Amino acid sequence: MKSINPETLKSGYFGRFGGRFVPEVLDVKLAELAAEFEKAMTDPEFIKEYKYYLKYYVGRPSPLYYAERLSKAVGSKIYLKREDLNHTGAHKINNCLGQILLAKRMGAKEIIAETGAGQHGVATATVAALVGLPCKIFMGSRDVERQKLNVQRMSLLGAEIVKTDLGTASLKDAVDAALGYYIENPTAFYLLGSAVGPHPYPSIIHFFQSVIGTEARQQIMEQEGKLPDSIFACIGGGSNAIGLFSGFLEDKDVEIFAAEGGGDGLSLGRTASTLVMGRPAVFQGTFSYCLLDENDQPIPAYSIASGLDYPGVGPEHANLKETGRVSYHCITDDEAIHAFKELSRLEGIIPAIESAHAVALAMKLLKDKNVVSIVNLSGRGDKDVEREMENE
Ligand SMILES: Cc1ncc(COP(=O)(O)O)c(C=O)c1O
Repeated sequence: MKSINPETLKSGYFGRFGGRFVPEVLDVKLAELAAEFEKAMTDPEFIKEYKYYLKYYVGRPSPLYYAERLSKAVGSKIYLKREDLNHTGAHKINNCLGQILLAKRMGAKEIIAETGAGQHGVATATVAALVGLPCKIFMGSRDVERQKLNVQRMSLLGAEIVKTDLGTASLKDAVDAALGYYIENPTAFYLLGSAVGPHPYPSIIHFFQSVIGTEARQQIMEQEGKLPDSIFACIGGGSNAIGLFSGFLEDKDVEIFAAEGGGDGLSLGRTASTLVMGRPAVFQGTFSYCLLDENDQPIPAYSIASGLDYPGVGPEHANLKETGRVSYHCITDDEAIHAFKELSRLEGIIPAIESAHAVALAMKLLKDKNVVSIVNLSGRGDKDVEREMENE
């Protein structure tokens, strides 16, 4: 794991982005969480227990797989970081395990979480079952329809699913509903699923997901004997992306690319491409980029991928955009669907529709480039196979 920059830990800021913009009752709770996280991060017993579960429960390290037929089709050498092979089928479990161990340390009696694609909901329900704590998952009713398989999994795992019809009944609304419940019930432990929200969540999630980048760096050195020329990830709130990127941010020769859920393309109201189309604003407890209307009010996002369908983005990514270290791109629904089918047919790997955005960006930018790259395959596509893969 990569330890967090002490400046950020203290201030809660990545450059000018981040902070904690919440009601007093949550400010107190989140200050306690930050203090406990800081202690846990450097506690060898805590790290030992976390690593134990990563290995024996999640099945880490996840392989770095050379995708030979995809590489031939694209004209560049592509490795896939197989987060889809983790227990529960996505990267979300890395963060959930870390946070549930924190919750246990803090004596939590109830776990709450939001979910879009259902992967974070399933991972949270899983770790709540693992430690025997009751769990409520907030989910937009539109996503309950779009991701039925994961709703069934969460029920089976013993979680209560709280549907919300607010707004567009998707991820943003699930976060609002979970935050609302948290304000009313501050003794609950809010197990947030992406690198978004108020301090200390973006740092906590960075820390627990950094295992992806640490492993990938070591694995590419073993297999290629050198660092990659470029790396790719999809980005909703930014957790799988920061997980991979954290291993390479200081390697100035490694180019870093992120694929946002572009929906129909670059038209406000029909896209979730926050860093390409948005502007800085305070949204859901943090200062970062957000999709805004002409009166600076947040506007609904749209993407075929429930996990990318979010008008905000984590503050560390806003900073990485402004410093120019990472290049953020819009990938449309159609491009993602094409990559979803191509990867399935060329490699026998059905990706989550979220992860297919990263594959699509790599296919586009690496065409006949003949370089070495890593694409983060953040999750598997079981949840998406029953869907009509067309614009909704
Ligand atoms: C498989 C998968 N990949 C990516 C994401 C996007 O989230 P993040 O940007 O936090 O990695 C999600 C969110 O649900 C997901 O399920």
